[in-house]
Amino acid sequence: MKHFDQSGAPGFYLETYGCQMNVADSQVVAGVLSRAGCRRVERPQDADFVLLNTCAIRERAETRVLARLSELAGLKSRRPGLKLGLLGCMAQHNRARLVQKAPYLDLVVGPDGYRRLPELLGHDGFDPAVEVRLNRLETYEDIEPVPEDRVRAYVTVMRGCDRFCAFCVVPYVRGRERSLAPQSVTNEVRRLAALGVKEVILLGQTVNAYRYGTTDFAALLRAVAAVDGIARIRFTSPHPLEMTERLIEVMATEPKVQPYLHLPVQSGSNRVLEMMGRGHTAEQYLDLVGRLRRAVAGLALSTDIIVGFHGEAEQDFAATLALLRAVRFDAAFTFKYSRREHTRAFGWGDTVPEDEKSARLAEVIALQEVIALERNRELVGSAVPVLVEGQARRGGALLTGKTPQFKTAVFAPLMPVAAGDTIAARVCSATSHTLICDQLVGEPGRQGLASAS
Ligand code: 5AD
Ligand code: SF4
Repeated sequence: MKHFDQSGAPGFYLETYGCQMNVADSQVVAGVLSRAGCRRVERPQDADFVLLNTCAIRERAETRVLARLSELAGLKSRRPGLKLGLLGCMAQHNRARLVQKAPYLDLVVGPDGYRRLPELLGHDGFDPAVEVRLNRLETYEDIEPVPEDRVRAYVTVMRGCDRFCAFCVVPYVRGRERSLAPQSVTNEVRRLAALGVKEVILLGQTVNAYRYGTTDFAALLRAVAAVDGIARIRFTSPHPLEMTERLIEVMATEPKVQPYLHLPVQSGSNRVLEMMGRGHTAEQYLDLVGRLRRAVAGLALSTDIIVGFHGEAEQDFAATLALLRAVRFDAAFTFKYSRREHTRAFGWGDTVPEDEKSARLAEVIALQEVIALERNRELVGSAVPVLVEGQARRGGALLTGKTPQFKTAVFAPLMPVAAGDTIAARVCSATSHTLICDQLVGEPGRQGLASAS
């Protein structure tokens, strides 16, 4: 490839937007480009290729990327040899319009096109190179992703989504569900364990819909748990309808599977859930939460909520608040409904005015903050094993890590502690987002503590 035989390896700069799937996909992109002889650089100024891996889930995500793109176009006008590429969901979603709106783009590549990146980056022409075909078979099974974190790593186990919730663009930009062979997953987990990774997060858009031959997600979890060297296993995001009794049983009995679940509910109103096409009622969701909590000791739960969906009336919104009060989630990710082209709900219109959406969002957040604070305060006085990640963001000598319930803990180390160590700590106070802890000495953070906390 003529681009790659200049002096030294070509440098690529890669920025990631959106969800964990995109973070994992960027590691695949890094894997593909490394294999083609490129090296990653930390600043766009130092790069031959500047790539943005983008998100299309809400309009705001796209606006941010467009602003960043025009900034980078300035860099390109000063360095004409530079290639600028847009990858991921937004590339897939807006392909035609992007090529018109951002004429300085050299490359538009959707989530199933990364294998062709070296070839597309080598393409010289007036028009941008575009690869936006979805591929029912693409799983990147043979590509070694380049992990960025040596403590916790993502492992993609399935891609795509078949659910077509009325508001969601994912099935259109990521295509149909497909799963990796269990062997590929366990090999990847083994490779990560050998690199010193302590915790893996199995990823998929509807991760518990995983199926490969006769292997379902419950069986996959058991297989991953059998890999030596990995101390903690999590997975995200599950769909409530795929939370089988078999899976709950594995969560309850497999000590490496951590007591935390991010279980999107979106709304507490049956009318809205029906319009969204979620396939369950609020009561069925509450029943599932009850079964999970009875089975898994100390289970922490988080969720996703959309406010202001098409047709959401005052009483529907009140039902969402009631569901939050009934479940008492440890955390909630809350979003204003954003009408997305291609989705089923696109044609239905936006019935809740923007200021009303903002007011509802503020109300959900305020309620959830109170609940999260109460939940965290219930932990004060208890002992928790903390998997250490490194220095706390603004904390001088403070270190930070996660508890089994995926809560952020900060503590002052009493002895040398390294990232990847599990230490024992006691919670001494709490905010709605953080547990402030004392390190306990003489009590190594045994894995056994994990499911007991
Ligand atoms: N508008 C607002 N939020 C959305 N989500 C998905 N699509 C939309 C949309 N059109 C939210 C859902 C999903 C999370 C990843 O993003 O809550 O669970
Ligand atoms: Fe989107 Fe629904 Fe699929 Fe989740 S399950 S990715 S919300 S369509």
